[in-house]
Amino acid sequence: MASEPVSVKEFQELARQVLPKMHYDFYAGGAEDEHTLRENVEAFSRITIRPRILIDVSHIDLSTTILGYNISAPIMIAPTGMHKLAHPEGEIATAKAAAACKTIMVLSFSSTCTIEEVASCCNAVRFFQLYVFKSREVSARLVQRAERNGYKAIVLTVDLPRLGRREADIKNKLVKPQLKNFDAVISTEVSSDERSNLQFFSRALDSSLCWKDINWLRSITKLPILIKGVLVPEDAIKAVEVGVDGIIVSNHGARQLDYTPASISALDEVVSAVGGKVPVLFDGGVRRGTDVFKALALGAQAVLIGRPVIFGLAAKGEYGVKQVIQMLSDELELTMALAGCPSVKDINRSHVRTKHQRP
Ligand code: FNR
Repeated sequence: MASEPVSVKEFQELARQVLPKMHYDFYAGGAEDEHTLRENVEAFSRITIRPRILIDVSHIDLSTTILGYNISAPIMIAPTGMHKLAHPEGEIATAKAAAACKTIMVLSFSSTCTIEEVASCCNAVRFFQLYVFKSREVSARLVQRAERNGYKAIVLTVDLPRLGRREADIKNKLVKPQLKNFDAVISTEVSSDERSNLQFFSRALDSSLCWKDINWLRSITKLPILIKGVLVPEDAIKAVEVGVDGIIVSNHGARQLDYTPASISALDEVVSAVGGKVPVLFDGGVRRGTDVFKALALGAQAVLIGRPVIFGLAAKGEYGVKQVIQMLSDELELTMALAGCPSVKDINRSHVRTKHQRP
């Protein structure tokens, strides 16, 4: 591709060209038949926008506030693992781009740079994403390191009691790179062969984790706790009852359970169930500013983007991540102008029609 990429789709194509197939497949792929993977993107196309006219849109304000932190647009960086497979600077490049774009980065537990390296490279607002392991001590130490290093919230991912079945990774015999946070806290008796095996990671996860454990997490940190991986209103209500500080509607980028609904199809019901008691964030399939707009109209306070960031990182490092975030922000800004919404708080449910609604 000779000219500069002008869309997330074109960044994806660039990433496909520059990455080894094994790594591209790891990033782009989903679970089993990849039905939900396709749906995550396609479901957005079944939502139409209802633009309002003759509203002063000479100034558009994209800024918003998440857990008290001001960000320049409601587009955050989702936790995704292993950024060094995309670019040698790994999560450091991503964090610098987050700082430059004035947004929040959620650092994945499965990062290839440490909690400390990412904290000291720039002044981005960072949250830390946690998986809970059979050894609670391992998880507790990571939470404490995140807290000590100025991370502002814990994002507890709850849709991964085991690793989903990603057939491309099985076929490609994907070798896990060094996961610096994890590898530093596991026993030195574990051989390097075992460490590089994704199944070893999967087996270490605590699949007995349940609602009462939110209290355990609360007991080891003062940071706000968000839970990531909510798809049904019953769970959203429970999450509010156990006192979480925020909910992320997500199906893990369709990498876990295939045939869950598209993430965007789950948002409406969850937002209604939560009733404004805690912020609801959203991720899954966002590829356009219009997608961000639709998610905000359905009640999300902000979206997180996973693969688009990785495609930008693979294509052009820190600069590519900045370009992707800027591009989506520009698209959102234009959408808001054309739909008659001068600021993020002006976007509401009346601005979209979902397919199940009557025309
Ligand atoms: C992820 N995701 C993820 N989530 C999480 O909580 N911890 C993690 O370590 C990872 N790792 C990860 C790796 C890769 C390669 C992908 C694509 C995704 C899920 C991620 O946070 C988010 O839910 C999805 O990526 C959102 O969907 P899109 O934006 O990729 O369509």
